[in-house]
Amino acid sequence: MKVGIIGLGFVGLSFASVLGSKNYSTLGFDSDKKKSSQIKNGKPPFYEPYLEETLNQALRKGLEITDNIATMVKSCQLIFVTVGTPQGNDGSIDLSMVKSAVEEIGKHLKYSKNKPIIVIKSTVVPGTALDVLLPILVSKSRKKPGKDFGLITNPEFLRESMAISDTVNPHAIVLGGTKDRFMNAIKKFYENLHKNTPIIATNNQTAEMIKYTNNSFLATKISFINQISNICQLIPGANVEDVARTIGLDPRIGHLFLNAGPGYGGSCLPKDVAAIINFSNSLGINPLLLNAVKQVNDYQLKHVILTIKRAAGTLKKKRITVLGLAFKPDTDDIRDSVSIKLIQSLLKQGAKIIVHDPKAIENTKNIFKEKISYAESLDDALRKSQCCVIITPWKEYSKINERHLQLMEKRIIVDTRRILNNSKLKMNYYPIGIG
Ligand code: UDX
Repeated sequence: MKVGIIGLGFVGLSFASVLGSKNYSTLGFDSDKKKSSQIKNGKPPFYEPYLEETLNQALRKGLEITDNIATMVKSCQLIFVTVGTPQGNDGSIDLSMVKSAVEEIGKHLKYSKNKPIIVIKSTVVPGTALDVLLPILVSKSRKKPGKDFGLITNPEFLRESMAISDTVNPHAIVLGGTKDRFMNAIKKFYENLHKNTPIIATNNQTAEMIKYTNNSFLATKISFINQISNICQLIPGANVEDVARTIGLDPRIGHLFLNAGPGYGGSCLPKDVAAIINFSNSLGINPLLLNAVKQVNDYQLKHVILTIKRAAGTLKKKRITVLGLAFKPDTDDIRDSVSIKLIQSLLKQGAKIIVHDPKAIENTKNIFKEKISYAESLDDALRKSQCCVIITPWKEYSKINERHLQLMEKRIIVDTRRILNNSKLKMNYYPIGIG
C-alpha cells in the first residue's frame, strides 16, 4: 500500500519517518519549499529526539519527499492530511490549511482513476470532515464518496518529545468514517502496522470529538492539580507532590498528568481547550468546567509572578534568570510556552532578564531579539542573578549545586516544578505547591 502524507510538521514528519523506516512506500509533501528541501536532505526543521535518525533511515528505505501532489493522488492508496489548524483570536480553529490541502487532493482526483482513502489527522472540531471537507472533495473531484474515495477521520495523540515512540507504539487508533470497504482497508493497514494496539472504529464526528475530549481531560487534570497546589502552598508544611503521588495510586485516578507547575502550554492543550469552548458556545452550551480549566491555567502564570514578587520583592531593575523556555523538556518548541508569557510580563515590570534553555534559545531570539540576554551555560545564566525561576524541568536544572549558587548575587530560587526540593542547598527556596 503506497502512502502519501501532506504536511510535514511534528505529526506528519514523525509518521512519514516511521513508515518509511519500516519500508512502507511513502510520499511526503510540504508546501513550505525550504522546509521540504531540508527534510529531503535528512535535516528535521525542529528538534525531536530520535527523529533525525529515523528520518534518515526512512530516506534510505521507503520515504520520498515530493513537491507534486498530483503524483501522490494518482499513486497512493492512503493520503494522510497532517497540516496545522492554528488558533484564531476567538479560540476557534483556522481551517484554511486543511481546506486547501483537501482542495488540492480533490482537484487532482478529478483526473485520476485511483480510488484513495483521504485520512484527516489534523485536529478539527466535530462536523468538519462531513460538513466542510467532504463537500470540497466532492465539488473539486466530481467523484462519489464511498465509491470513488473514502474519507476517514484519524486523530493523532502523539506527544512532542516522545513523537517517534508514540508513533511506533500508540495507545489507541481511532478511525471515524462509514463502515465500507475504505474503512476495512485502513483498518487492515493499521492492524498490520500496530499488531497490539486497540482500534476504535466509529463515525467521523465521534472521532473528531474523541480528540478534543482526550486533550481537554488532560488539561483538566493539570488545572485540577494546579488548583490543589496553590491551596497546598498556603498550608505550612503541605506538599502537593505527596498529595499527587498518593491520589495517583487510586486506579480510578492514575498518577499521570498530576504534576503541578506553571500551567500547561504547547501547541495542543491550550489551543484544543479554547477550540472546544468556542465550539460548545456555538452550540449554545456554556462549558462551565472547561471555562474553569482555562481560567485556572491562565491564573497559574499570575500565581508564579506573585511567588516571584514574594521571593524577590520589587522587580524593577532586578536581574532575573529564567531557566527553561521550551514548553516542556526535550523539545525546542516555544509555542504557547509559559516561559515566554512570563518573560513578557517581567519585562513590562522593568526586570532585566537572562534566559537559558538547552534547545530553545534560537526560537526565543526571534521573539525577544535584544530585549533580554541569552546564556550559553547555567553558570552564565546564574552569574550575578538576583532571583532564578525554574520553569521547564530540563534534567540538567536538577543538578544545580552549591557552586552555581555561589555565582548568584542573591540565592533566591522560585521552583515551579520542585526539582530542587530534595536538595540540601543553602538557598531561599520558593517551590510552587509546597507550604
Ligand atoms: C499533548 C497531548 O499529550 C498529546 O496527546 C496530543 O497529541 C498533543 O498535545 P504535548 O503538547 O506534546 O501533547 O505535551 P504534553 O506532554 O501533553 O504537555 C503539555 C503541557 O502540559 C506542557 O506544558 C507540560 O509541562 C504540561 N504538564 C503536563 C503539566 O504541567 N503537568 C503534567 O502533569 C503534565
